[in-house]
Amino acid sequence: MSEQTPAPQRKKRIYSGIQPSGMLTLGNYLGALKNWKNMQEEYDCIYGVMDLHAITVRQEPAKFRQQIYTTCALLLAVGLDPQKSVLMVQSWVPAHAELAWILDCYTQFGELSRMTQFKDKSQKHPENINAGLFTYPALMAADILLYQADLVPVGADQKQHLEITRDIALRMNNLYSGLFTLPEPYIPPAGARVMSLQDPTRKMSKSDENPNAWVALLDKPEDIMRKFKRAVTDSEAKVCVGEGKEGINNLIGIYGAVTGKTAGQVEAEFEGKGYGDFKTAVGEAVVEALRPIREEYDRLINDKGYLLSVYREGSERAARLAARTLSKVQRKLGFVSPEK
Ligand code: TYM
Repeated sequence: MSEQTPAPQRKKRIYSGIQPSGMLTLGNYLGALKNWKNMQEEYDCIYGVMDLHAITVRQEPAKFRQQIYTTCALLLAVGLDPQKSVLMVQSWVPAHAELAWILDCYTQFGELSRMTQFKDKSQKHPENINAGLFTYPALMAADILLYQADLVPVGADQKQHLEITRDIALRMNNLYSGLFTLPEPYIPPAGARVMSLQDPTRKMSKSDENPNAWVALLDKPEDIMRKFKRAVTDSEAKVCVGEGKEGINNLIGIYGAVTGKTAGQVEAEFEGKGYGDFKTAVGEAVVEALRPIREEYDRLINDKGYLLSVYREGSERAARLAARTLSKVQRKLGFVSPEK
């Protein structure tokens, strides 16, 4: 190589994950999965099915097993390509749990107590406020820091977890120098916070008891249409972004994220039209966006051997990368390796 030739730049590393704790929602898709797919070309991506995180709330074993398969298949169905991205299952790479323990010892009780997700989930499950729910952010920090990720594509609800990840990384870098890359969140301009269709002041969530409040990625077209037609709006009957119009703001956001249009373009398109027409158009756009995903999913879910082979291979690649960081951390902290 001549002196003038610049060295090839290392692609930026991406890490992100999703819990297999129920049916994935339109929120998961627009806030995260859609961007994961788009980032595959430009970045060095690792994506995980986060089964260890999911047991912070009780899972019924047979259902849980099925949800893990479903999530593995859905990640492929949305367009993640195992030739381009590393696809892994969290519990298949034991370094996640090992680094999490180490990070637990560098994370303060006070900072974990301030996590809104901990407060929300403890309120929702007062009978099961377990230690894993409390230390969840340290495990998530381990997921990200193990791979020295530069960027973490997530929905807006995960921002606080990214902040604590950075705090932990900085704290440990100050003590031991050069341990971890400081990761940045990537929160998409559209779709970062998809709200409930029944109470648009709350996040769309698969744990919502009202099935009309959320759209599952595998919902049938007629169910998707029904949910959008019943979506809560306001009495102004004007398709525009505004205060006190959370329902319409949410629908404009969804339509924009699915079609790639800006809020202004959506407003112009529906100028003079009523909410009925608008809701139908949003429903149809979502049906069309999800159709190929559902079709691909139907094909993949019956081939468990293929799913296992993709995720086994990805997890082996991930484990090799993770081992480097874990042994560096152990060495810098003063652990003795059995090899020397
Ligand atoms: P999880 O499984 O709750 O959600 C997966 C991704 O979907 C996004 N998301 C949403 N985006 C927009 N609108 C919504 N209504 C909506 N609901 C969910 C989430 O922001 C997330 O990006 N703790 C994580 C999983 C995790 C992780 C990680 C993520 C574990 N380790 C390491 C990144 C890096 C979680 O519970 O996501």
